[in-house]
Amino acid sequence: MTHAERQPRRLLVTGGAGFIGSNFTRYWCDRYPGDRVVVLDALTYAGNLANLEGLAETGNFRFVRGDIGDRALVDTLFAEEQIDTVAHFAAESHVDRSILEPDAFVRTNVVGTFTLLEAFRHHLANRSDANRCRFLHVSTDEVYGSLAPDDPPFSETTPYAPNSPYSASKAGSDHLARAYYHTYNLPTVITNCSNNYGPYHFPEKLIPLMCINILLGKPLPVYGDGQNVRDWLYVGDHCRALDTVIHRGQLGETYNIGGNNEVKNIDLVRTICRLMDEMAPDLPVKPSENLITFVKDRPGHDRRYAIDSTKLQTSLGWQPSVTVEEGLRKTVRWYLDDEDWWKPLLSEEYQSYYAQVYGE
Ligand code: NAD
Ligand code: DAU
Repeated sequence: MTHAERQPRRLLVTGGAGFIGSNFTRYWCDRYPGDRVVVLDALTYAGNLANLEGLAETGNFRFVRGDIGDRALVDTLFAEEQIDTVAHFAAESHVDRSILEPDAFVRTNVVGTFTLLEAFRHHLANRSDANRCRFLHVSTDEVYGSLAPDDPPFSETTPYAPNSPYSASKAGSDHLARAYYHTYNLPTVITNCSNNYGPYHFPEKLIPLMCINILLGKPLPVYGDGQNVRDWLYVGDHCRALDTVIHRGQLGETYNIGGNNEVKNIDLVRTICRLMDEMAPDLPVKPSENLITFVKDRPGHDRRYAIDSTKLQTSLGWQPSVTVEEGLRKTVRWYLDDEDWWKPLLSEEYQSYYAQVYGE
């Protein structure tokens, strides 16, 4: 299908004011300007209207502040906007917060996803083109648990073994999305992606936290021995993968998405230090590596994640395009240039969370 033959879509993007959701919304509005894009976001501590700045002026974009668990609101939006495609990002997403206070994770990730699925099922009952509609459930590789150093990467058939309240709640939502396809024929597709990074990433996560602490001359807290491994994917590559899956993914299927970039945390932090030393005009502490501090490990800390995305690559032709060095360079540049974005996020609430995790 060429771009010109494509029938416009009407999207509901949940969690579109968060990190990946806002990158996806920007990507989509730019690539498909004829599509209607409605963002539904509760604006929790992680949601930020600044992430969507500039989009409000485009005629086809609408922002609605609200909870995915509010069934009446979701029903109204589906009907009034004639939504045919749901891109579901809304979630509580930070493992450390799920350890401190798991309640919201179950409420949003499990019950909220259930509410959306139910509302979409009833909405589609009134449509004749249900097979063209899509419910994209955006999930994580963390549902598969932890790998030993020589284990093969996670594939779509790896059994679920979540280890944190966050990953358990995401696993629960994946099972619901899967069940709604099998039971009700709801046109769901699930993606399980590895660690993303890039612009608009909230300061609590490893990469932005390291960038910001270097700029502020604060300690760089590395959990445990720093040997845990994550597979890093630049957020723009994730957005392209989701586009591919929405348009060409098989209904009821799961697609793993990964960057083929396994890196030990300590090596990643050292690379960020090197790039900051090279790119920042002046830093409070140089070399930044002097700020690295090993701290108490995260409880239940998964040792290694690695993703096998052969299925997506061979059946739908997607490939990651950004190397870690390239992606980190762009990301460091962004945090250097966009102080006005991140400074206001270091709020009192954030400081109190920070003290709970890292101590005073
Ligand atoms: P994020 O925490 O940056 O953003 C989450 C967004 O959801 C925020 O804007 C928040 O306000 C909104 N939200 C939270 N609860 C809500 C509710 N009840 N109703 C409406 N909106 C609500 O998260 P992210 O890192 O952008 O992750 C987005 C999705 O991608 C999540 O589902 C996450 O599990 C998944 N994922 C993330 C990564 C990653 O590396 N960040 C990797 C794989 C999958
Ligand atoms: O794998 C996908 C997941 O990646 C997503 O589902 C989650 O939403 C996302 O938050 C992310 O989870 P992680 O726990 O892997 O990301 P985080 O940035 O919190 O941590 C990355 C690694 O760095 C992890 O091994 C823990 C470690 N870490 C993290 C922080 C915040 C530290 O060593 N020090 C820190 O201060």
